[in-house]
Amino acid sequence: MDLLRTVEELRKWARMNRRFSARVGLVPTMGALHAGHASLIRAGAGSCDRVAVSIFVNPTQFGPNEDFARYPRAFEADCALAEREGADVVFAPTVEGMYPHGAMTFVDVEGLSERLDGASRPGHFRGVATVVAKLLIAAEPDRAFFGQKDAAQVAVLRRMTTDLRLGTEIVVCPIVRETDGLALSSRNVYLSAEERRQALVLSRAVRHIEELAAQGERGASALIDAARAVLATEPAVRVDYVWLVDWATLLPVETATAGTLFAVAAYVGSTRLIDNAVIS
Ligand code: PAJ
Repeated sequence: MDLLRTVEELRKWARMNRRFSARVGLVPTMGALHAGHASLIRAGAGSCDRVAVSIFVNPTQFGPNEDFARYPRAFEADCALAEREGADVVFAPTVEGMYPHGAMTFVDVEGLSERLDGASRPGHFRGVATVVAKLLIAAEPDRAFFGQKDAAQVAVLRRMTTDLRLGTEIVVCPIVRETDGLALSSRNVYLSAEERRQALVLSRAVRHIEELAAQGERGASALIDAARAVLATEPAVRVDYVWLVDWATLLPVETATAGTLFAVAAYVGSTRLIDNAVIS
């Protein structure tokens, strides 16, 4: 597996592959890779001829009081995992490499960027859309792989690739969970043992809503109330949002139908966690 450090190297690698008609897959990450990331890399290796994994803790998607400085970094272990799961290259640029000195160009997916996590984290999706646009423009992958774990991010990035006609297919992979239900996240390392236990209430709420919907409950307010009741069983967990939305527009729905997104965000201690389910 090769290590690419500059956008020029990534562009060259992608061009060389296209010359040989190889289908190129890209898996954007911020590192601290876990089994959720691994599932995306495997999906990439399974459906593309060549796979690049990007590892870049993107400063523009963190708010001023967020965890950019202390975000977990584990570069050596990340490279080993990426190689094991079938990556051909890791792209690990510097901040200056992605944001030239004096950078003024950003990608704003208007409206969508202010919903769900965008409402709680102003500027977050602008940073995400900007960095992913840079990656897609440089690598021009046939497919890029993202986790349903970050469902609002998926909505923003689908809209962006369509609007900019980037031509990359966005592939969404299922949420990978611990055996007790907790959705894997690089931020789970912040949780104390007690918080780790409290955090299970998110996946419990998600599962409960999936079950109610499967039993025929389709009213948004009934489903949201039921989710809030589950979340309230852990009083130390502070709910940020509970929404039933159209997955494409992220706008609230009154009635859940197939494809409706149920999403929850909550603070466990000072750690903000998210979870979701797509109603079937
Ligand atoms: P990061 O949090 O590192 O996640 C990288 C990818 O892994 C995202 O598409 C995310 O949805 C996916 N992922 C994380 N946890 C997962 C899980 N438990 N199951 C399945 N997939 C999971 O998301 C980002 O980085 C950044 O915003 C990025 C897109 C790289 C832009 O900087």
